Amino acid sequence: MQVFDQVRDMQQHSLSWRAAGWRIAFVPTMGNLHEGHADLVREAARRADKVVVSIFVNPLQFNDAADFQRYPRSLNDDLLTLSKLNVSAVFAPDEQAMYPEGRESVTRVEVPGLTEELEGRQRPGHFTGVATVVTKLFQAVLPDLALFGEKDYQQLLVVRKLAADLNLPLEIVGWPTRREPDGLALSSRNQQLSVDERERAPQLFAALQRVAEQVRGGQGPFSALESKAREQLVAAGFVPEYVSIRSATDLRLPVAGEPLVVLGAARLGTLRLIDNLRI
Ligand code: PAF
Repeated sequence: MQVFDQVRDMQQHSLSWRAAGWRIAFVPTMGNLHEGHADLVREAARRADKVVVSIFVNPLQFNDAADFQRYPRSLNDDLLTLSKLNVSAVFAPDEQAMYPEGRESVTRVEVPGLTEELEGRQRPGHFTGVATVVTKLFQAVLPDLALFGEKDYQQLLVVRKLAADLNLPLEIVGWPTRREPDGLALSSRNQQLSVDERERAPQLFAALQRVAEQVRGGQGPFSALESKAREQLVAAGFVPEYVSIRSATDLRLPVAGEPLVVLGAARLGTLRLIDNLRI
């Protein structure tokens, strides 16, 4: 497994693989890897000849500087984890390598519409930071396909849209969320939960499951199901930000007969948890 920290070195390596006819699958991450990431890497290895994983905690997508400082970093453990999976290369640039002229002046990728609600409304600038870094990472790794976890459902749709809108010659693959036995979605942030918060945390997914069951059972209106779920989250000790039933294809307010997804975000102590469930 090779480790690159410069864009040009990663690009040259990928170009040589492409020239040799290898198919490249890419898994972008911010490190602190868990089994959810390992699922993406294993699927990447099934679909391509070479797997590249990036590790970069992207300051541009944090709308809260303290959250960026606090974000767990564990590069050595991550490299050890990846060396045991079928990974050909790791791209682990530092901020200077990604934003040599400084991040404030970098050209941005804006994805309109889809980014203005839900996570976009709660975290202004977040998706522009994600879309910008993902576009730069794609240009460094030059993959044939890239895999993203469905836990960040809105992010997955944002990346699909940017790839389509910018005619990027790669396939975007969404992969199901890995969960703890009690339903909590795996996340790099979970280790920051206190013992008490960890016990409460699965209530977010439980609330989404109840909404999904009610929708499947024909109950409504949706707004009443959403407010009941928010009340249940308050009772479980959360500060809910949203629980929202949306179209699964573009997150618009749903119309009859469409595939649906219910998405939720809530604060628990100092942490913010998000999750979603297709209905
Ligand atoms: O989902 C993440 O870990 C990040 O948002 C991503 C896609 C690696 C971009 O920094």
